[in-house]
Formats: sequence, C-alpha cells, structure tokens
Amino acid sequence: MPIVGIDYEKCNGCGVCLTACPLPGYFYSRDVESNKVIYDSHGKKCLICGQCISQCPEDAILYEGIGDTFTFDRIQDIKSYSPYDKIFNTLAALRSTRRYKKEKVPQDILEKVIRAMSYATTGINMRAETFTIISNQETLNTLSDAILEELKKEESQWRMFRRQFSLMNAIYEIPVFYDAPHVIFISSQLNMIMGGFNVGNIITYGRLAAQSLGLGTCWNGWTQIANNSNPKIRRVAKLKGPLLIAFTIGYPDVKFYRVPPRSEKVARFI
Ligand SMILES: Cc1cc2nc3c(=O)[nH]c(=O)nc-3n(C[C@H](O)[C@H](O)[C@H](O)COP(=O)(O)O)c2cc1C
Repeated sequence: MPIVGIDYEKCNGCGVCLTACPLPGYFYSRDVESNKVIYDSHGKKCLICGQCISQCPEDAILYEGIGDTFTFDRIQDIKSYSPYDKIFNTLAALRSTRRYKKEKVPQDILEKVIRAMSYATTGINMRAETFTIISNQETLNTLSDAILEELKKEESQWRMFRRQFSLMNAIYEIPVFYDAPHVIFISSQLNMIMGGFNVGNIITYGRLAAQSLGLGTCWNGWTQIANNSNPKIRRVAKLKGPLLIAFTIGYPDVKFYRVPPRSEKVARFI
C-alpha cells in the first residue's frame, strides 16, 4: 500500500486530508471517540495522486515505495514564482523546430526533459506510459522508412503528405524525424481516448521543459498515424504500445524572432 498511515507525532488533527482526497471521507476519516484523524486503506489501493501528501501542513502522511516529495521556495506563491506574463510568453514562444544541429544533447539534459514529463497530469493518475529516447540514427532511419511506407499505404492519407515528403527528401536524410539527433517516444498501454490525452499532455510538458533548456522540439504525428494503422511498426525499434507518439528533440539550427499570428479564440461566457 503506498499510503501507510499518519505520523501522529506530526499530525495536528486539522483534517485537511479528509477532503484533499478525491474520495473524501473514505481513506481518511475522523474517529468519533478520540477525534483523531485516521487512515484506513480498506484493503484498497488509492490513486496515489498525493493530494493528501501535498496538502498536509505538517507533512504527517506516511507513504512507501512511491518516491519522494520535494518542495521549493514560494511553492505557495506560484503566482509570483512564475507570473502570467512570463508563462504566457513561454507558451506562445513554443515553436516546432524542423532544423537541428547534429550535436547530441548530453544525457543529463535529456533526463531533465524526461523528469518534467514524469510530472504531467494523467487521467485518474494512471501512469501507464513509458518513455524511450532513440539517438541511434540507423534505428531512426529504419523507423522513418517503416513509417513512410505505412503512410503511403492509404491513398487519401498519402495525398496529404506526398508533396511535403517529396520536398523534404531533398533536404533531410531521415525526413520523418527531420534529422534530429534524438527522438523521444511515449507509448501508452491505454489504447483509449484518455491514453491519447495523457500522451499529449506529457509531450507538452516535455516540449516546454526542452525549450527552457535551449532545445528545439517538434511533435511527430506521423509516428502516431503509422502506428495506429500498423502497430507492428513499433517493433522496428522495440517500442512498447499500443499507443505511440513521438517528438523530435535537439539543439535548434533556427532562430525565432517573433510569435506568429494566431487567431485568438473568444470564449463565450455563459
Ligand atoms: C497532434 C500534433 C501532431 C503534429 N504532427 C506533426 C508532424 O507529424 N510533423 C510536423 O512537422 N509537425 C507536426 N506537428 C506540429 C504542427 O504542425 C505545428 O504545431 C504547427 O505547424 C504550428 O507551428 P508551431 O508549432 O511552430 O506553432 C504536430 C502538432 C500536433 C499538436
């Protein structure tokens, strides 16, 4: 069991954990006689969302085998730690990079990107995804060929990409991956709509983290399309499935001077 109880030397009895938990009053409740907050797993595994751990003012929740918490200055004041204008510019400046330097990214930097991806929100906190970084150009080449072959199979689909690839073939050796030095693959065991949302969310975390490390990225929907129609494709690179999405990553060989126009959406306020 990940949550194993309450450290009564620390617990101040505030009861925040009772409502912090998405199952309020189930795992945590208040003992009527002693007025103590108690934890009972009822023999069930919780979501391990950690809301109880992060909301407990006394750090009194006991847990095992789920890693460690961390905190930082101003965690309770994220508004001043990363104010809207900075966050907005960071988000708006995130561009797809399709020209990369050949130089490899050091492993410790790539691990930082992976670390950020590990903190992405996933539906009901299911963490059914695995991450693989492929830097071997031969493997990427084989995978690129397999993806292209798959895209060509369906006429209507290929019509969308044919011209783009014929132009890209003149520029790139591995066109599907824009000759990037690395490609990060995210596979999910959840072959359902939520799995797709999870992976999308994870990619966005990874791409934003990469941007903050001076790296460029580009979402690779072609991998996803090809894998959808032929899940065997992933075996080319010994990747797990059934859902597979990827993004290219490396030092950008382009500069962006401004944010392009975007039709800003107007929300209806009802
Ligand atoms: C789900 C998804 C799939 C994408 N697939 C590809 C792709 O296969 N190849 C590619 O070059 N760009 C791909 N992109 C990048 C978009 O084409 C890109 O976001 C768009 O051109 C806008 O440019 P920007 O990202 O620089 O703002 C994808 C983006 C998303 C969100």
